[in-house]
Amino acid sequence: MTLPYGVFISFEGGEGAGKSTLIKKLCATLESCGIDHIKTREPGGCVEAETLRDLLVRDSHNNWTPKSELLLMNAARHEHLEKVIRPALKVGKWVLCDRFCDSSLVYQGYARGMDLSVIEKYRADIVGSTMPNLTFILDVDPIIGIPRSRGSVHENGQVNQETRFENLEMSFHEKVREGFKKVASTNPIRCHLIDAHHDQNSVYMDMMSILLQNYPLLSVPKNTPN
Ligand code: TYD
Repeated sequence: MTLPYGVFISFEGGEGAGKSTLIKKLCATLESCGIDHIKTREPGGCVEAETLRDLLVRDSHNNWTPKSELLLMNAARHEHLEKVIRPALKVGKWVLCDRFCDSSLVYQGYARGMDLSVIEKYRADIVGSTMPNLTFILDVDPIIGIPRSRGSVHENGQVNQETRFENLEMSFHEKVREGFKKVASTNPIRCHLIDAHHDQNSVYMDMMSILLQNYPLLSVPKNTPN
């Protein structure tokens, strides 16, 4: 099934909140409903943006100022929007994106301390009207999320080397958590805060109930996908 214009959903939250698992489950659900979709991520999502991702998330590159970090995130986002997100939405696909512009507001703004109005100015220019229709923000205490994230292994079996943010001090991750709560409370129609301390199936069910309130056209399989 395709809509004349696709549905854009972003997934946000601190490290180790369980975004990837949730996105994978939603992909399986959309698949079984015959809904054409893509799964993508930021920073990254296309060749050029993945090159920038490497500079941003690997622990061997440590010295970016917050402003350079923001500019690189936005350069990656511009490439991603132009080459992947907008073309997919135009042909009616659903786009499931692991992080998007709220991460810039939270990581570079609330946590790194950059002026929020500067970040918003870049967002207006780069993202424009291509804002997510829905954003799920997974809330988890970093005391729980960070160890989960540190233990994570990539799908190809390799140990996670994208630890530049993850290795920052706990106070940084606490600011990230509070920042996402502020984003949720200032955008109550688009953003939905989900308690990610529960098991994966409850988190999935919480997300699905919000999704179905917004898009009742989905007929959801009874069992949660693995
Ligand atoms: P990601 O791989 O999604 O981290 P995780 O899987 O651990 O949640 O994202 C990489 C890192 O990039 C993450 O620590 C947050 C950071 N980031 C920003 O600081 N600003 C941004 O605009 C984006 C999109 C990500």
